[in-house]
Amino acid sequence: MTAKPQKKPIGVFDSGVGGLSVLREIRRELPGEDLLYVADSGHAPYGDKSSDMIETRSIAIVEFLLSRHAKAIVVACNTATGAAVETLRARFSVPIVAMEPAVKPAAAHTKSGVIGVLATNGTLGSDNFARLHERFGAEVDILVQSCPGLVERVEAGDLSGDKTRTLIEKYLAPLLAQQADTIVLGCTHYPFLATLIQEIAGPSVAIIDPASAVARELRRRLASANLLSVENRAGTERFWTSAQPEKTQPVIAQLWRVDTEVCSLPNPA
Ligand code: DGL
Repeated sequence: MTAKPQKKPIGVFDSGVGGLSVLREIRRELPGEDLLYVADSGHAPYGDKSSDMIETRSIAIVEFLLSRHAKAIVVACNTATGAAVETLRARFSVPIVAMEPAVKPAAAHTKSGVIGVLATNGTLGSDNFARLHERFGAEVDILVQSCPGLVERVEAGDLSGDKTRTLIEKYLAPLLAQQADTIVLGCTHYPFLATLIQEIAGPSVAIIDPASAVARELRRRLASANLLSVENRAGTERFWTSAQPEKTQPVIAQLWRVDTEVCSLPNPA
C-alpha cells in the first residue's frame, strides 16, 4: 500500500552541511514533518564549480530524494539554486522551494542605503542575482563580496577559530568601510558564522538570513498542494552524505546538536 502523500517526507539538500541552517528553520516551522537531508560534502564547495556540474549533482540528488518518496524538495543552497533550479522545476513535478539572497528585506531595512551581500562566486554571477540587483540596485547600493574559503571552514566545523575569523574580517572590511549597515547571508553555510560575523561587524549592523522565510514559503507550498502532514507526532530526520560518513557525521552532529546517524549516499560520484 502506498503512503498517503501527506505522510511522505520532505527532501532537503545542499553542497554540504550549510543547508542545516535551513533545515533547522524547517523543523521549527513544521515540527511534525519527516525530513531527509543530503549533504553533497564529497563535492563541496559548489561555489567555484561549473553550472553544468552543479546541475548534474542537483538532478542526481533530487532523484535520490524522490526514490525515498520525498513529497517536496528544498534546494537549501543558493549556489545550486542559481545554477539548477529552473532545470529542476522543469524536470520534476513535486513542489521545489529554493533560496534567494535576502536583498529585498535588506533594502527595506537599511538606514545608510548601503547593503552588503556575502555569497559564493556562483551565486553572485547567477542570472537570479543579476535580476535581484536590477530590481533593487536603484533603491540602495548593493555591495557584493564573494567569500572563498568560508564554506570550507564550516565544512570543517570551525565556526570561531583564527582562520575563520581572519577570513570574515577580510571579507567584511570593504563592506563596513563603505558604510554597509545591513549584511545579507547569501550562502546557507554562513548563518553558522553569524555570531562571529555580528561580533566583527558590531552591534549596529543587521545580519539577514532568509532561512525562516524559506521555511514559511515551504509551509505555504505544502498547504496549497494539500501536502502538509496531519500526523500528531514529532517528525524525524535522516541524513546522507556523498563524502565519507565518518568525516561528515561529527560536523552534522555539531551543527544539528544531535549525535545523529549519517549514511553514505548511494552512487556519490
Ligand atoms: N551552502 C551553499 C550556498 O548556499 C554553499 C555553496 C558552496 O558549496 O560553495 O551557496
